[in-house]
Amino acid sequence: MNITTVHLVYFSPTGSTHAVLKAIARGLGGLPVREHDLTPPGARDATLSFGPNDLVLLGAPVYYGRIPAPLHGYARLKGARTPVAPVVVYGNREYEDALRELTDVAAAAGFVPVAAGAFVAEHSLNAAMGSGRPDAADREVLCAFGQAVAGKLAAAADADALSPLKITGNTPYRPYGSMPFVPEVTPDVCIGCGACVEACPVGIIEDEHFTVTTPDACLCCMACVKACPVDARGLPAEQTEQLRTRMDALARKCAARREAETFL
Ligand SMILES: Cc1cc2nc3c(=O)[nH]c(=O)nc-3n(C[C@H](O)[C@H](O)[C@H](O)COP(=O)(O)O)c2cc1C
Ligand code: SF4
Ligand code: SF4
Repeated sequence: MNITTVHLVYFSPTGSTHAVLKAIARGLGGLPVREHDLTPPGARDATLSFGPNDLVLLGAPVYYGRIPAPLHGYARLKGARTPVAPVVVYGNREYEDALRELTDVAAAAGFVPVAAGAFVAEHSLNAAMGSGRPDAADREVLCAFGQAVAGKLAAAADADALSPLKITGNTPYRPYGSMPFVPEVTPDVCIGCGACVEACPVGIIEDEHFTVTTPDACLCCMACVKACPVDARGLPAEQTEQLRTRMDALARKCAARREAETFL
């Protein structure tokens, strides 16, 4: 199969899914790489179309064992029997139905899943889980995965000649969860730069006082907190304490290092 361009298509509020896709692309042998960031709300309104000589690396983080809510029923990707490698990135707990769900999104959009993988990164709600990952060992595994995908595609006449993948996960997918935590702004510290407004994947931070307009729509993704250059955003003190208690218990249960799982 003759692949001419690699496309990184990703939703990545705090950047680790993007980093994982870039590390995989390094193993793909120097093909031109184009990036399509689906994180800003406007980016998900445009249709992205791909042809049979493109390879799409489609990445999403795991939220509650699923793909994030903005990607549920996402139908703006168009493949033409385009090879795709769905990739989920999770915070060292578990990825449950997320990889299956992302693979289903791609298959329904006209892509042919040729490889898939679940990889670990630092948990965006608790840096003690998956701390410092992807690390050097992960980057080697990610590059090797890219090389394996390239080898598999080079050996196949076309995407339809490949056997279907058997991806971990169940249908119906597990119920999506929720977190009752919403970041707020400390007005005395805020410098009004608007970085949080730009970073919010669901567009719910207004650009005058930088408060959240619809708390029920908040993903609790922490993109706005991470984007703030002066630490003017964070959870209210009581919520910080509740989240810490919840996440510390989870971190104790998930202390063992999880390794990448790939499907080829
Ligand atoms: C709301 C929420 C739910 C999450 N659920 C899970 C989960 O079920 N399993 C897990 O291991 N990590 C979970 N994580 C951690 C993310 O999957 C992980 O931090 C991922 O690297 C974030 O990707 P990003 O940096 O591209 O945004 C969750 C994070 C958030 C914010
Ligand atoms: S307001 Fe909520 S959804 Fe928006 S960036 Fe902040 S944490 Fe994420
Ligand atoms: S990113 Fe921080 S400093 Fe900039 S507008 Fe938002 S809260 Fe204010």
